[in-house]
Amino acid sequence: MSRTFTSTLFLSLLLASTGLAAPLQTSSPIIGGGQLFDLARRGYKATPPVTGGDYVFDPAYAKSEIQRVLAKYKDASAIIHNANIPSHLADLLRDSPLLSSVSPTLGDLLTGGSAQDSRQATMPLIDNISGNLDVLYYGPISMGSQNQRMTVDIDTGSGDLWVPVNCPDCPHPGYNADGSTTYKDTGEDFSVQYGTGQVSGVLAQDRVAVGTLVVDNQYFGAVDQESDDFNDEPNDGLIGMAFSSVATSGQPTFFENLIKLNKVAAPLFSLHLTRHKSTGSTLCLGCYDLSKAVGPITWVPVTSMTYWTVSFDGVQVNGNSAAMSKSLSAAVDSGTSLIYVPQSIAAAVYRQIPGSQRADQQYGPGFWTYPCNAKLNIQFKLGGNLFALNSVDFNLGKTGSGSSMCVGGIVGMGDSFPSDLAIFGDEFLKSWYSVYDYSHGARVGLAPSINNH
Ligand SMILES: *[C@@H]1O[C@H](CO)[C@@H](O)[C@H](O)[C@H]1NC(C)=O
Repeated sequence: MSRTFTSTLFLSLLLASTGLAAPLQTSSPIIGGGQLFDLARRGYKATPPVTGGDYVFDPAYAKSEIQRVLAKYKDASAIIHNANIPSHLADLLRDSPLLSSVSPTLGDLLTGGSAQDSRQATMPLIDNISGNLDVLYYGPISMGSQNQRMTVDIDTGSGDLWVPVNCPDCPHPGYNADGSTTYKDTGEDFSVQYGTGQVSGVLAQDRVAVGTLVVDNQYFGAVDQESDDFNDEPNDGLIGMAFSSVATSGQPTFFENLIKLNKVAAPLFSLHLTRHKSTGSTLCLGCYDLSKAVGPITWVPVTSMTYWTVSFDGVQVNGNSAAMSKSLSAAVDSGTSLIYVPQSIAAAVYRQIPGSQRADQQYGPGFWTYPCNAKLNIQFKLGGNLFALNSVDFNLGKTGSGSSMCVGGIVGMGDSFPSDLAIFGDEFLKSWYSVYDYSHGARVGLAPSINNH
């Protein structure tokens, strides 16, 4: 199926749903039979009404996330442009029989809520909510010979798995390595840099499982020190779902091992993130959950197999282009809550929002406020297609109780952030059911989320 076709279909869907023009095409749907297409036609709105936003914005979380994003993506520009694909990943991308098995219709992979065969697994995720923010999404993995349950933040923006191990000073004591006969300490140091410090310990190996999907000897960071960034987090650790090119351990990720071992039905995983609902989010490993999308997938090519990086070519606000002089690389990052762009691009976006104001004085550099009742249709052009951001998610909360001004969810980053990078976090992914596919040269699939239904 050609990309031109998908984008034409998608654009006509957008136009039709915004009531602007264009009869819908009635050609065959991209995936999953007519049922899916009918749902899309009925349900999806590109500009849903503004609701909620009654919370007052709490800058503490956003400020600490800025520090984390700066640390996480400090070297991203060089990493993306000189992608250093480790040999195990190059071998995998060349040799895995799974890579040629993904059919354009995703036929066999479709599920309706939960995994269907033993080569698929559904991980239920908890959405940790604070005020107007969906802060992070985490779910259970099973580790070691005794299947100890650990919860991990799902992070498509990094490449390491880590959990606290025998760590009395960590917010969660974590994994009891002594209780697992399959645990191995490699003796190598492990550390990852975060906003205010780092997590560190040793590189270890053990059995890791999600549902029926098992990897023996999975490398992970056995962490015995965590920076303060993690004090308020409900999860034990984190699972990196980006390419292992960005893994500080240099080792294959859990999902890459599943591909290598031929354990998944397909070399892709899909993510549904709920809006302001603690349960219902899912990670589908080796599958695509039809019940979480209300429209066709649009595939966006991955431009660098490091982060899930796509070409970010423009922003439109209510149909007006916010000037962008060059294309950027955007990392699709489920481990980040908000949307981050270079300061000049944020300024160009807010220039298109009447009544918006810089809020440097109130909240620090990078923040803007805008009239809460503004009718906004913000669309990002990724790999040539437009993807709308639900304006409910753009609204980070009011500037004060009873205020008519709200804080915008596109944060401008200063000079210490790469000028050619953008980060699309959960705020964006709540509008789009997302698929991370290693086949077809690697691509990100985005389908209108059931959240917008
Ligand atoms: C989010 O996590 C924090 C820290 O563990 C916890 O106190 C809070 O209750 C959680 N909120 C929700 C809505 O789950």
